[in-house]
Amino acid sequence: MQHDTVATQPIAGQQPGTSGLRKKTRVFMEPHYLENYVQSIIDGIGGVAGKTLVVGGDGRYFNDRAIQVILRMLAANGASGAIVGQGGVLSTPAASHLIRKRGTAGGFILSASHNPGGIDADFGLKFNGPNGGPASEAVNAKIVEATKTISAYKIVTAEDADLGTIGTSSLGEMSVEIVDPVSDYAALMEELFDFDKIRTLFASGFRMRFDAMHAVTGPYAKAILEDRLGAAEGTVINGTPSPDFGGGHPDPNPVWAKELMDEMYGDNAPDFGAASDGDGDRNMIVGPHQYVTPSDSLAVLAAHAHRAPAYAKGLAGVARSMPTSAAVDRVAAAQGIECFETPTGWKFFGNLLDAGRVTLCGEESAGTGSDHVREKDGLWAVLLWLNILAESGQSVAEIMEALWRDYGRCYYSRYDYEDVETEKAHAVMDGLRARLDTLPGTEVGDLTVNFADEFAYDDPVDGARATGQGIRIGFEGGARAVFRLSGTGTQGATIRLYLERLETAPDALAQAPQEALRPVVEAALTISELKELTGRKEPDVIT
Ligand code: G6P
Ligand code: ZN
Repeated sequence: MQHDTVATQPIAGQQPGTSGLRKKTRVFMEPHYLENYVQSIIDGIGGVAGKTLVVGGDGRYFNDRAIQVILRMLAANGASGAIVGQGGVLSTPAASHLIRKRGTAGGFILSASHNPGGIDADFGLKFNGPNGGPASEAVNAKIVEATKTISAYKIVTAEDADLGTIGTSSLGEMSVEIVDPVSDYAALMEELFDFDKIRTLFASGFRMRFDAMHAVTGPYAKAILEDRLGAAEGTVINGTPSPDFGGGHPDPNPVWAKELMDEMYGDNAPDFGAASDGDGDRNMIVGPHQYVTPSDSLAVLAAHAHRAPAYAKGLAGVARSMPTSAAVDRVAAAQGIECFETPTGWKFFGNLLDAGRVTLCGEESAGTGSDHVREKDGLWAVLLWLNILAESGQSVAEIMEALWRDYGRCYYSRYDYEDVETEKAHAVMDGLRARLDTLPGTEVGDLTVNFADEFAYDDPVDGARATGQGIRIGFEGGARAVFRLSGTGTQGATIRLYLERLETAPDALAQAPQEALRPVVEAALTISELKELTGRKEPDVIT
């Protein structure tokens, strides 16, 4: 086997965002681009000699080619083993589980999550550590440092590894073990949840639709929902993964999961609907004629988790990202458990989960998860919902009504302004930042600002401080607007405006969310001058 050391030089912009390095696929395909980043990860984590690593991705365009490069580089850098999902495929939560279960030194996850796939779309690569979670900020900093000083990378020359056949082969000195991507993950789900109860629910005629959005969860959902739990054949739609996700946008929200939404809002809607994203870590929950916001879903799961065997003892604590609504805070307060507010990005939950401070966490961006892995987990959330529905005998509508009656309703919406020129996006943020001190007391329409700040987070476990994590404007009475720039885009800047209003009056819990939020939207747009500064009259996406 020929070992090569290839001379290279730093490539600008190899800076991971909210979740790993994400770029246009063609950028990743440029000479040395992938190799530079992989070597920088290897160097940033202190080398891979003698280590075993998990490798897998969401199956998008370039997934298979990139995996061959990673395997040849791991072999050249002295890794002792690689565990790879068959066909190069692993959902992100399944990869996290495999890292933990097999006690590996971490893993390479190839995905751009909910971003479209294809040669003209997006690709991504991230490293998860031995706990199964996204690399911490400290490790990321070392990786970035390595991208700036790299002068060579190591790779072996070899035939492509056979990713299609389960079993172990070798690549030089390194073993390559191809594993079934679904079985370990399905077994974990069976440990956590009461499969018998859910089976009985389906056997009683309960109807569900799961939209896999042509992405990675298709095979997982079919194996678990249809084969093991007895949901009717055809419960899983768009269940065959494709490299460009059927030309769609594999983001489970009411805009992109339109096919599912149409069915759930149509005549004869199934009892329960759900969808997951490109790499299987996000989820959307929808009942008949009732979309459940991710923030409310987190609150429901926190309120009812004890109904599932894995959480029967109760929760140690919960955590949510800052822009996520305060619905879960109110559930946590009632249970007398801690509730942490972290910056956007799953990596910030890792320490809290590792330290046993929290059991459940979630984000407004359609992610919920628990201490069973160190990633958010789309199918897990769907199964916990099913377990709750089966155990309580309640419908989605009854669960939601009870939540709002008991804790008040946090009306919530997110406005996305996509592909805004970077300078204009920064002008909005800078303008707000400059006025933080003078905003409190300001009256806008019927609302009065009671606080304004830029969110910073001190990790209670390792003391690391993260600053500049979004601008919060709080209004008297519990309404809030948050402004933040997305960290996952690959083009221009995306401004996210997160809107929330708490309502506790019993006769005001069934309003249309956009109506209930109108005063908050108007106040946020007035204060930020967003329309004037960006020229955008309307957001591109409202969820
Ligand atoms: C990824 C991360 C999430 C995060 C989301 C935010 O999906 O895994 O933890 O909430 O990005 O994306 P944004 O585009 O708002 O930075
Ligand atoms: Zn994802």
